Amino acid sequence: MRDSFELRTLDGAGRIGDLEVPRAGVTVETPALLPVINPHIRTIEPAELESDFGAQILITNGYIFYGSDEFRDRALAEGLHDLLDFSGAIMTDSGSFQLAEYGDISVTTEEILQFQHDIGSDIGTPVDIPTPPDVSREQAERDLATTKQRLEIAEGVDVGEMLVNAPVQGSTYPDLREEAARHAYSTSLDVFPVGAVVPLMNDYRYAEMVEAVLAAKRGLGADAPVHLFGAGHPMMFALAVAAGCDLFDSAAYALYARDDRYLTVRGTEKLADLDYFPCSCPVCSDTTPDEVRSLDGDTRERTLARHNLHVTYEELRRVKQAIRSGNLLELVEERARSHPAMLDGYRALLDGVDQLEASDPVSKGSFFHVSTESARRPEVTRHHDRLSRLPVEGETVLLTQGGNNGGFDETWRLVPPFGPFPRALSKTYPLTAETPERFDRAAYEAAAAGVRALVEANPETEFTVGYFDWPEAALDALPDAVGLLDLREGDGGSDT
Ligand code: GUN
Ligand code: ZN
Repeated sequence: MRDSFELRTLDGAGRIGDLEVPRAGVTVETPALLPVINPHIRTIEPAELESDFGAQILITNGYIFYGSDEFRDRALAEGLHDLLDFSGAIMTDSGSFQLAEYGDISVTTEEILQFQHDIGSDIGTPVDIPTPPDVSREQAERDLATTKQRLEIAEGVDVGEMLVNAPVQGSTYPDLREEAARHAYSTSLDVFPVGAVVPLMNDYRYAEMVEAVLAAKRGLGADAPVHLFGAGHPMMFALAVAAGCDLFDSAAYALYARDDRYLTVRGTEKLADLDYFPCSCPVCSDTTPDEVRSLDGDTRERTLARHNLHVTYEELRRVKQAIRSGNLLELVEERARSHPAMLDGYRALLDGVDQLEASDPVSKGSFFHVSTESARRPEVTRHHDRLSRLPVEGETVLLTQGGNNGGFDETWRLVPPFGPFPRALSKTYPLTAETPERFDRAAYEAAAAGVRALVEANPETEFTVGYFDWPEAALDALPDAVGLLDLREGDGGSDT
């Protein structure tokens, strides 16, 4: 068992946890953001990240220090914490990203892990092979074999209390991701980044990003802290957290700022296009887009970077509160509306609903039915599974509205999207859901799927659906085995 990571609150596959980083002597609350610090640039000073943004952890690249005449000896002499002036936890990368960009780096896993240890890193990284999307299966397998060897080499390096990342690769082959994750989890390493997803995110391939995360999660234990390498845009935090990611690193705040771009939770804006700042962070409360445009290059970059960090941390807090309140999927639904590719990402997440259901709490605060996707949420599929276990006593009528039972042995309610349930359960979660009065087709179909589950589990029982205002298409979706009783004329339709 891994004892450095403790889960506190769950929602879907999302969780709030505590990652203990022994070498730093700190406990980092997850989901956490690790701003990327490039020692050559330092767009925002690490001390400011700590004081103004509450950063508990950051990430920098050990390979930059290793290969730099300016920084190598200083890092070895002073240590990263003093050199960067940061007292929280520091994660270092290994040069694998440079390997992916330039095809070659001149360091081994032993050397770079030892070096990361020697400069005082709290979480180090071996030289994994970030296999890009869409490569041949042969290449993905070959690269993965190398990555696995490097993780095993990393296990043998004496790094004291430093935690070590075990990156999970596998390109766009979910079965390889799962296998990579299972192998990584079997090592003694500590943190599990899902790697080489940057090209997917750059191309808005959020569905495949989600599939990669879900595949990795299948191979990892629930106690594995999962990092989404290179994911720093606040737009996708809710989605990635709901898929089970705990750590994010953001170079985006600085890279976009350099490019005069302004992050929002709905996407990226060009500073040139903004007449108004849709944000109340200290930067946006104090200035107008015109004023920011008139700043000199460096000041403008730092100003935009500050805003970008404010929205990024704000979204992370919103995600954590949503987990606390049990409505993370409702936040994901909201974010999914900002781009069709985000909607694909959310739909890919719902394709993995069984995986979400396994960790989703049985009872939460509320269920808001707010989109066609709501009908596919884990709470609905869990109710359908449960229908096969609920006892049914004799001939049963399923009423789409409150009403008397017309002489049947037993009366249940039939409500989209959950389907049938005994009246006694109507005050229990999630059947207390707030739903719109005008259901969409998906909600009726989900209810029909619930009826099917009930009928299949009770082949000896006669079921009748007593309906009031259900559309024809919804009635057609019901299994043939149920009788239909039109209650609109009033017989048996008195409201109770
Ligand atoms: N940064 C972004 N992606 C990756 C990756 O796959 N591996 C490593 N080590 N760093 C990354
Ligand atoms: Zn702002």
